[in-house]
Amino acid sequence: MVARMAFWPLLRVLNGTRRTRSWAELKLLLRDRLLPATATRSKDQNPPPPALFQMATSYWVSQAIYVAAKLGVADFLVDGPQSSVALAAATRSEPSSLFRLLRALSSVGVFSQQGKDCFALTRSAEALRSDVPGSLRDILITVGEIHYQACGELLHSVQTGKPAFTKVFGTNLFDYLQQNTDASEAFNRGMTNLSSLLAHAALLAYDFSGIPSIVDVGGGEGELLRKILELNPEMTGVVLDLPDAVESNNLAPTVAARCSHVIGNFFDSVPEGAHAYLLCGVIHDWDDDPAIKILSNCRKAMTGDGRVLIVDMIVPETNSASFSKLLDLNMMVMTGGRERTKAEFHALFSAADYRVTRIIPTMAPQSIIEAVPK
Ligand SMILES: C[S@@+](CC[C@H](N)C(=O)[O-])C[C@H]1O[C@@H](n2cnc3c(N)ncnc32)[C@H](O)[C@@H]1O
Repeated sequence: MVARMAFWPLLRVLNGTRRTRSWAELKLLLRDRLLPATATRSKDQNPPPPALFQMATSYWVSQAIYVAAKLGVADFLVDGPQSSVALAAATRSEPSSLFRLLRALSSVGVFSQQGKDCFALTRSAEALRSDVPGSLRDILITVGEIHYQACGELLHSVQTGKPAFTKVFGTNLFDYLQQNTDASEAFNRGMTNLSSLLAHAALLAYDFSGIPSIVDVGGGEGELLRKILELNPEMTGVVLDLPDAVESNNLAPTVAARCSHVIGNFFDSVPEGAHAYLLCGVIHDWDDDPAIKILSNCRKAMTGDGRVLIVDMIVPETNSASFSKLLDLNMMVMTGGRERTKAEFHALFSAADYRVTRIIPTMAPQSIIEAVPK
């Protein structure tokens, strides 16, 4: 990098800017150019823009990932690398635009550009494939569509405290999904992508054996419950959800005899008489009052020795990096929900007349928060 700056011009610029306001700007430029990890940059790379600008424009990357997911590009690379022309024909795209998309995504490691116009899968791109273990394709599609549009109105949420989703789409998220089949299918399949990744982490962290019956409240397509039931052959289960999610249920024959899907509204009631009520990615959809209502309905319905298991992220109390703090913004715009700290979970449960018995971290970003009636 130093080779890009001749010595005398540098001295001249330093001298000229020393007593002016542009000195501060120059200082920033030099700091950004000289201090960050420039050592690994090869000769044909441009210097990167300031880190803040890269952060602010990271939606270019997120939308490029969305488009690749939507077009299903990765599925056409399973048998080996392909040219953008071949991929454009397969995905019904315009070749030179698809080339630019894949070149950009290769530059950040999502695909790999081999030679001038040949693209291959990478480990990240594997997750863009459909219907493979670890697939994120469906969640990336829903995130790139409705979540992205709602996030475009984050300012509205911060100024009003209301979910931007309603401003953008004219109704709340879950009503919208009931009325829009394509969006609902993408959302429900996307949730299944995530719960599929989470399920083993939850099963490794928490001993579900000995629980005779469980209700997965807002359980979506039933992926998490399916895996719990597969490993616990004595257990029976119920998935409670809204009509759109129940209609796209995913119950495998291995557990179908021990599990049912029930349509219902958890603000009215939840199925009675179970020993555990599982709420995975549900409580963070809601602000405190509705969350307390759901927990209270579970409390009314459960057996005397029943328990609630929330599966959500825990927000660290300190100023540390945590995905939970960004997901919290997503909940703010999508539903008016929130991610919570440990203290906030204790307060929430207390308000619903429970006490927290354990908070168990998992190998996934989520923890399991166990609570029993007070
Ligand atoms: C973020 S998703 C989580 C889905 C699932 N638990 C998982 O982890 O994959 C929230 C779920 O709550 C359901 N839901 C929202 N409002 C509901 C209500 N009033 N009654 C029942 N289910 C509801 C949604 O349909 C959706 O399936």
